[in-house]
Amino acid sequence: MTDDAVPTVSATIVYLNGEYLPLDQARISVMDRGFLFGDGVYEVIPVYDRQPFRLDAHLHRLQQSLQGIRLNTPLDDIAGREPIQQIVAEIVAQAPWPDMGIYLQITRGPGPRDHAFPNTPQPTLFLMPLALGSPGAAILQNGVAAITAIDNRWLRCNLKTTSLLANVLLRQLSVDAECAETILLREGWLTEGSASSVFLVHDGVIQTPPESELMLPGITYEILLELARCEGMPHQVCPISEEVLRKADEIWITSSTKEILAVTRLDDHPVGSGQPGPVYRRMLAAYQHYKRTVMRGHTA
Ligand code: PDD
Repeated sequence: MTDDAVPTVSATIVYLNGEYLPLDQARISVMDRGFLFGDGVYEVIPVYDRQPFRLDAHLHRLQQSLQGIRLNTPLDDIAGREPIQQIVAEIVAQAPWPDMGIYLQITRGPGPRDHAFPNTPQPTLFLMPLALGSPGAAILQNGVAAITAIDNRWLRCNLKTTSLLANVLLRQLSVDAECAETILLREGWLTEGSASSVFLVHDGVIQTPPESELMLPGITYEILLELARCEGMPHQVCPISEEVLRKADEIWITSSTKEILAVTRLDDHPVGSGQPGPVYRRMLAAYQHYKRTVMRGHTA
């Protein structure tokens, strides 16, 4: 390989249980509970210019997820010899792109195929870099389409677990409809997207549902609320009914990989003017400015 060649995906360096190795050489046991039961948790941490963005918040949420699934081995013990921050830094340094997502997964490890926990779990820790594509000009200009569906997931959606089959099936509904996301309604109330948080604008006020066990506490969600406060943009964290969602002037979806996208069609009807709205444009500018400032300051 020449110096400037980008390694193929299979040659990308990943971390698995104490070792750095090419992706195509990483192996786990078929008895791993992550494989058998989806018994694990994960994070996706955005990295810009090789600087992890809000790493502490992602690691805090990871700790909450571990606690939520009763995987009580401290994060430092799971990581073993190296602090987790150092493992993240090493994967970032070796990745072929300056901007990326770091996928970090911890499972309860291998054991007999028994639903009950093993007596002394030996967690599996896996990290890999993911290519991160910023939304293209057409998407920023025109927004994306979304559909709605009934949120039929479990009641612990605040935990970022790898048991994602319900989210996968819900997301596929929007793929089938050639849309970018499935926005979820539980008993007539907005929860979130299949892989994103949801905001809307109603009469100039930004609205989003309050954190609860029915949705993931999004790191991007938290940043948007902070920016709304700093920028003096009217906002309200409140339950949102299906009726209010359908009358919204603007709808946005947010995540660490999507950043902020305007939803301009919902269930084949235009949202507001059918174009990304003025509040979206202001928030997007504030978000991009904040990102650049944090990265220049080199703080997480
Ligand atoms: N998912 N809600 C759900 C169900 C999600 O899966 C995600 C992100 C979010 C947004 O969280 P954050 O702002 O912290 O990225 C909300 C990630 C990106 C994924 O599963 O790939």
